[in-house]
Amino acid sequence: MGKVYVFDHPLIQHKLAIMRDKETSTKDFRELVREIATLMAYEATRSLPLEEVEVETPICKAPMKMLAGESLAIIPILRAGLGMVDGFLSLVPNARVGHIGMFRDPETKQPVEYYCKLPEDIDKRHLFVVDPMLATGGSASAAISLLKEKGAKKITLMCLIAAPEGIAVIENDHPDVDIFVAAKDSHLNEHAYIVPGLGDAGDRLYGTK
Ligand code: PRP
Ligand code: URA
Repeated sequence: MGKVYVFDHPLIQHKLAIMRDKETSTKDFRELVREIATLMAYEATRSLPLEEVEVETPICKAPMKMLAGESLAIIPILRAGLGMVDGFLSLVPNARVGHIGMFRDPETKQPVEYYCKLPEDIDKRHLFVVDPMLATGGSASAAISLLKEKGAKKITLMCLIAAPEGIAVIENDHPDVDIFVAAKDSHLNEHAYIVPGLGDAGDRLYGTK
């Protein structure tokens, strides 16, 4: 069974509280998503493999450790996942980025895939799927299934806010996937929105409502 990590770092909780406020502007919301993604990426990449290298300092040659080979790729679920990419990339600027387009049908709440472009060698990389919201879990679960169909072997899911229902779906559908969330909220409402949540993450990121 994958592990679920809920961040209790004060900086993350502080920034998340500002993001949730309905008066927070689109500009501030976008900056906060990026900042929280950076803070979460620091912790979520803790298990990345290292390899021994030799470094010549001004004093002598010495064995050191660096990230091993083609190690990771970031996979945002469009649209809202895009908001987390730059923050993650600021820590691992050489990471590849793959995109999965997925929206939730407003009636059925089922995910609809509309785009997929991935690095060719995803089977060799640790993939970090990013999306601010894990509500019913349908979008993230479908995205992870798609990655597995295309050969992915190691996947971590990183979300800002998760409903217990969404976590349960990922645990059930993908027990091999670790989940990192900044907050686990109370429940879903009748429209399958997270309570208390922050509303529609894509609309708040891009000012479309
Ligand atoms: C939101 C969010 C997730 C999904 C979560 O995207 O960014 O992808 O909903 O809901 P689920 O867990 O119930 O599937 P949305 O469908 O609103 O698309 P958008 O990012 O393009 O706004
Ligand atoms: N998508 C969002 O953007 N917010 C929610 O609360 C649920 C799905």
